[in-house]
Amino acid sequence: MKHPLRFFRSSLKAKLFLSYLIVILVGVVVLAGAVQIQTPAAIQRHIERMEAHLGSDPGLAEDLRINFIRAINEITTTAVIVSLIAAIAVSLFTSQRIVQPIRAMMQASREIAAGHFNRRVTVISEDELGALADSFNQMAEELELTEQRRLHLIGDVAHELRTPLTNLRTMLEALTDGVLTPEPSTFQTMNNEVLRLQRLVQDLQELSRAEAGEMAMFPEWTDAGELVSSVVDRLALQFHDKGVALHVNMASDLPKIYVDPARITQVLVNILGNALQYTPAGGEVWISVRRIGDELRFVVKDSGRGIPPEDLPHIFERFYRVDKSRARTSGGSGIGLTISKHIVEAHGGKIWAKSKGVGQGSEFGFTLPLRN
Ligand SMILES: Nc1ncnc2c1ncn2[C@@H]1O[C@H](COP(=O)(O)OP(=O)(O)OP(=O)(O)O)[C@@H](O)[C@H]1O
Ligand SMILES: [Mg+2]
Repeated sequence: MKHPLRFFRSSLKAKLFLSYLIVILVGVVVLAGAVQIQTPAAIQRHIERMEAHLGSDPGLAEDLRINFIRAINEITTTAVIVSLIAAIAVSLFTSQRIVQPIRAMMQASREIAAGHFNRRVTVISEDELGALADSFNQMAEELELTEQRRLHLIGDVAHELRTPLTNLRTMLEALTDGVLTPEPSTFQTMNNEVLRLQRLVQDLQELSRAEAGEMAMFPEWTDAGELVSSVVDRLALQFHDKGVALHVNMASDLPKIYVDPARITQVLVNILGNALQYTPAGGEVWISVRRIGDELRFVVKDSGRGIPPEDLPHIFERFYRVDKSRARTSGGSGIGLTISKHIVEAHGGKIWAKSKGVGQGSEFGFTLPLRN
């Protein structure tokens, strides 16, 4: 059995009930007090007025006074008892009404903590409690979405890892059975799968850091022109090998920008790399850098395969690929643009993608603010 004082301290319902009771008691005491104080004088006045009819019998007047007071006391007592009972009943009901939704929220939050993310509370009132229940439900909604994203992520990662692992296993089995001959090309293919796995793990690590907002940034005053030129130099050979022409167009007097050069290089490599990857031989890629107002605008256009309009809004989502076939032997895992978006936004810039449709080429661009 709980100590009564502790029970009152820990129960909102008891506290509410007690506070109602105190208000009622004060009301009743004041009422009874007022009746007690006023009654003798009032009765005296009335008896004096009645004296003309009663004659001057002092015994009768005294009798009348005592009986009057008794009657008033009787009525007051009954009224006090009845009103106390009614008030207790009403305050029990009201405190129950207030406490019930709070209890429901408590129960729901326990269930959510236990993993039942679809639990909600029903909002009945339009007062602060209703608003609290509303924001509680919103929070539950967010938690549910986060949980869904987490589950999807695990599913996606497992899927991505499965393909190269299956390929490796098939090849190892074929080697063991003698179906496949141990030639350098075989090991080269296997090595490619291992490299793919390694890159995927690195990308995932980077992605999780980016999504947690923990990507380390080391900004410094950087020459945008030099940065673009170095990326272009780095990829020139790959463009040449595939037979895709790369055109660079930028002003010679570009202002310096305060960015992490390694990260912006990564964004440019991702976007230019995509342009190269998704543009067939004989195609063209243009990169331009311009100052527009108080920002630098980088744009990469290609004459490649383009992006269908229904895929365009999802292109920056992680693991999103237009070509969803998991059997593809080349191609990435759909993380590059997600990381790029995080990097650009961490620098206070914006990134976008445009395409008129399949076969019509694509345009990827991003801005970086100039801080003067
Ligand atoms: N220039 C482009 N032309 C056509 N489609 C593109 C282009 N750039 C990106 N895409 C589409 O967007 C998807 C996502 O690009 P993203 O760079 O994020 O992933 P990825 O290239 O598949 O893999 P990785 O993580 O290795 O970069 C690509 O799979 C491709 O379908
Ligand atoms: Mg890519």
